[in-house]
Formats: sequence, C-alpha cells, structure tokens
Amino acid sequence: MRSRLRLGGMTILGIGLWAILQPDTTQAYPRYRDGCHTCHGRFSDGTSPKGTVFPGDDKHRMHRSATYMNSDCDLCHTSTDDRNPWTGSSDGTANNVGYGCTGCHGRDYGGNTGVSGVGLRAHHTVNGVPDCAMCHIDDPLPLPENVAPPYYGTVDTNANDPCNLAPEFWENWSIGDTIGLDNDGDDLYDEADPDCAPVAGDANGDGVVDLDDYPVFADCMGGPSQSPIPTPPLTTQECLDILDFDGDLDVDEGDYGEFLTAFSGYLP
Ligand code: HEC
Ligand code: HEC
Ligand code: HEC
Ligand code: HEC
Repeated sequence: MRSRLRLGGMTILGIGLWAILQPDTTQAYPRYRDGCHTCHGRFSDGTSPKGTVFPGDDKHRMHRSATYMNSDCDLCHTSTDDRNPWTGSSDGTANNVGYGCTGCHGRDYGGNTGVSGVGLRAHHTVNGVPDCAMCHIDDPLPLPENVAPPYYGTVDTNANDPCNLAPEFWENWSIGDTIGLDNDGDDLYDEADPDCAPVAGDANGDGVVDLDDYPVFADCMGGPSQSPIPTPPLTTQECLDILDFDGDLDVDEGDYGEFLTAFSGYLP
C-alpha cells in the first residue's frame, strides 16, 4: 500500500515535470493586439519600453509613411485581419512573401524553422521579458546582426541595412538616436555589434564582395594622397576602412588590384 502510494506520487510528479518541459503550443501573440500592445501601446501612439521617440509620436507612421520607412501596407496587413495584423504572416506583395512583422523583425533560418522572430525574442529575454523564451524553447541561436531580414533592401520598404552605420538611416527612423534594431538579441546595436565589422571590399554592405560594390569603389576614389570622396552608403572614414586595401590613407588605383582579388562574385 505504502509503495503504491509512493509510486502514485512519483507518477504525478513525473507528469507535472513532463507538462512543464513540453513546448507550449498556444501562441501568445498571434496578432499585435493580442498582447504586444500591453507593453508597446497602440501602434498609432508613441509608447515605447525602449524609450524610443517616434516621428509624430506614432509607430504606425514611422513604419508606413513615405517620409520614413515607407513600407507597403501588405508587408504587415492581411485583407481579412480586421486591422489587427498577424505577427508571422501577411498578404505580401508581388516582390515579397507575406511574413508579417517577422519579415523585418525576424530572419530566414531555413529548414523547419523558416522565417522566424528568433532575434526579436532574444532581445526581449535579454531585457527582462522572460515569457518569450519560456514558450519558444526550440529557437536556434540567433543569426548574427549583419544578416538582413527578408524584406530589407526590397522595393516595398526603405528598411535596408541591419548594420545601419551612422549617419545613415536605413534601419533607423526614430528621433534622437541613430540606432535601428538589435536583430540578434545580444543588446548590441548595428555598428556597435562586432558582427557588423566592415568586410574589406564590401562597399554596399550586402555581405559579399562583387560587381555591385564597384560603383561605390569608383566613386570613393579620391586619387593618390587625396581624401576619399564620401559615397553613399559610405562616409569618408568608411571608404578608408573598407576600400583602402594597402592602408596608405587614400583610395586609388593602388587599391583596385586588391579589390578585384577580394571578389567572391563574378568578374566582368
Ligand atoms: C511584457 C512586455 C512586452 C511584451 C508583451 C512585448 N514586448 Fe516588445 N519589448 C519589451 C521590452 C522591455 C523591450 C526592450 C526595451 C529595450 O530595448 O530597452 C521590447 C523591445 C521590442 C522591440 C525592439 C527590438 C529592438 O531590436 O530594439 C520590438 C520591435 C518589439 N519589442 C516588438 C514586440 C512584439 C511584436 C511583441 C508581441 C509579439 C512584443 N514586443 C511583446 C516589452 C514587451
Ligand atoms: C509595419 C506594419 C504595418 C504597416 C506597413 C502598415 N500597418 Fe496598418 N496597422 C499595423 C498595426 C500593428 C495595426 C494595429 C494597430 C493597433 O491596433 O494598435 C494597424 C492598424 C491599421 C488601421 C486601423 C486604424 C489604426 O490606425 O489603428 C488601419 C486603417 C491601417 N492599419 C491601415 C494601413 C494602411 C492603409 C497601410 C499602408 C499605407 C498600413 N496600415 C501599413 C501595422 C502596419
Ligand atoms: C504561450 C506561449 C508563447 C509565448 C509566451 C510567446 N510565444 Fe510567440 N509563438 C508561440 C507559438 C506556439 C507560435 C507559433 C508556432 C511557432 O512559430 O513557433 C508563436 C509564434 C510567434 C511569432 C511568429 C512566428 C515566428 O516563428 O516568429 C512571433 C513573431 C512570436 N511568436 C513572437 C513572440 C514574442 C516576441 C514573445 C515574447 C514577448 C512570444 N512570442 C511569446 C507561443 C508563444
Ligand atoms: C519593413 C520592415 C518592418 C516591418 C514589416 C515591421 N517593422 Fe517594426 N520596426 C522596423 C524597424 C527598422 C524598427 C526600428 C526603427 C527605429 O527605431 O528607428 C521598428 C520598430 C518597431 C517597434 C518599436 C520598438 C521600440 O520601442 O523602439 C515596434 C513596437 C515594432 N517595430 C513593431 C512591429 C510590428 C508589430 C510589426 C508587424 C505588424 C512590425 N513592427 C513590422 C521595421 C519593420
């Protein structure tokens, strides 16, 4: 009798532990107004747990207005969403599959995970919001900061560069700072994250050195012993950091040969 009772106790304890260790399959925030708004306020207001100041005190405007991020409505919205978008899906456009918020607040992990807000959740965890990690226990390690989210650099939005080097604004449209997002959740933003260290020759910051970098290289060239010419997306200093291969403090023909050697893409 005693041992059967003990066994019963163990079994109940076992079931309890099993239940705790199971991933929760209830989605806490399928849509923005299912609870993101309890901390972040309505999308059309200026509430921010991060202390961000938004243009017009309005997150919706920052994301969609042509003056700022200029994002297509269907990157976030679904025609049947009743104006309360899903966090992980949307109608999408001719150029973008509809990944909802994760199209910019997530990255493509491939395999079973696919496009997912892994880094966004890591950023919450590191900032004292524990519940994302409690359910999303299968999240892989976040991809590094310099990997662009799927919507970035497409015609449907101005959001472009996860490394957002000041004074550029390709990931930043808030007021009073030059930071965009902490895409990998290590609490280091953009160029302050070592993942964003410049790659020699990668003038357009897309992670590869190829023909697409050549126009920037050509425009940066100030000639021997001359200051480089700042060329979007590079400042004078960045022209030097990324394109002055021989370290003689100019960008000139002496650097061109090494620029070609760095090519990982095709050659003309
Ligand atoms: C319990 C409160 C809470 C909830 C719920 C919550 N957040 Fe947050 N969120 C925070 C805090 C705290 C931060 C970090 C503030 C900081 O960076 O100092 C944050 C940061 C963010 C950021 C900025 C990330 C960055 O890289 O700087 C975004 C975007 C965001 N949350 C979106 C969401 C979305 C979408 C949801 C719903 C799926 C959500 N949040 C739910 C509290 C919350
Ligand atoms: C970055 C994502 C995003 C984009 C892009 C976006 N919306 Fe929204 N929209 C939202 C969210 C989130 C809400 C829910 C706001 C809330 O309930 O707090 C919303 C709400 C709305 C509402 C309800 C009223 C309101 O302001 O809350 C309308 C209308 C709307 N959106 C229209 C549009 C149109 C039109 C576009 C394109 C010009 C657009 N949205 C682009 C995310 C977006
Ligand atoms: C009660 C459990 C639970 C909690 C808490 C929870 N989630 Fe989720 N979430 C889910 C489930 C289940 C799904 C859908 C399946 C999936 O994609 O893993 C999901 C999907 C998502 C998606 C869309 C798909 C994807 O992979 O990114 C986002 C974005 C998201 N969650 C963000 C968050 C954030 C941010 C927090 C913390 C503020 C959070 N979740 C907290 C259970 C939860
Ligand atoms: C086209 C890219 C894009 C899409 C799509 C997008 N976001 Fe953002 N979002 C950003 C960027 C970039 C920032 C940071 C801007 C800054 O701080 O200058 C941001 C900032 C935010 C913030 C402000 C965090 C803070 O307090 O500073 C919230 C909240 C947020 N997004 C929620 C959402 C939600 C919810 C959706 C989906 C309905 C969404 N976003 C879709 C790019 C996007």
